[in-house]
Amino acid sequence: MQLQRKILILNASPRIGGNIDIILKKIIQALGNKAQVKTIYLNDLNFRPCQACNGCDKDAICVLDDDLRAVYKQIIEADVIILGSPIFFGSLSAQAKMLIDRMQPFWVAKARLKRKSLKDKKGFLILVAGSGNKTFFENALAITKNFFKVINAKYCGQLFFEHIDKKGEILDFPGLEPEAEKIARATLEP
Ligand SMILES: Cc1cc2nc3c(=O)[nH]c(=O)nc-3n(C[C@H](O)[C@H](O)[C@H](O)COP(=O)(O)O)c2cc1C
Repeated sequence: MQLQRKILILNASPRIGGNIDIILKKIIQALGNKAQVKTIYLNDLNFRPCQACNGCDKDAICVLDDDLRAVYKQIIEADVIILGSPIFFGSLSAQAKMLIDRMQPFWVAKARLKRKSLKDKKGFLILVAGSGNKTFFENALAITKNFFKVINAKYCGQLFFEHIDKKGEILDFPGLEPEAEKIARATLEP
């Protein structure tokens, strides 16, 4: 029997039941039982931003003992990463950026220690913005691509929704389910 693909969903919105939450749940629904799905609500975690202490320089292990210890393990084991974030002040939310800065141990492993131990992954980005300013999506995408590169994830797809502001407003977007199904299918492709 073939092992199910491990899909790790990183929800970087603080709003439970908000737009990102709704979209990610539509993707999970579309996946059904075809994958092993785990969602992490970054806002629920207790973790600090990177302290630039160089503590990870020699062994690629972060010295901070907080909730990210478990998340590092989930990232290592994942076959697919889906990052969902609202646009806050023109870019990813602080929850997402704090996580990404803490990927420094993965950068050390790859760039300094020349380790090639991380398995290939697929990466997807889901964004929602109150405005229609495309530069904000470009900013968030550029940062996400850095993140995906460092964890060995190939950028494989995106859903960017503009002019969605109020909590739950995404439900008025007529094509939401087909779009979520498209992402779900793409996560399962070889
Ligand atoms: C602190 C904060 C900053 C925001 N900054 C922006 C912004 O710079 N540009 C924009 O288009 N929308 C901005 N928004 C609007 C959110 O992107 C929008 O409300 C989104 O739908 C929230 O998604 P959520 O319900 O998943 O949290 C901001 C909202 C908040 C709370």
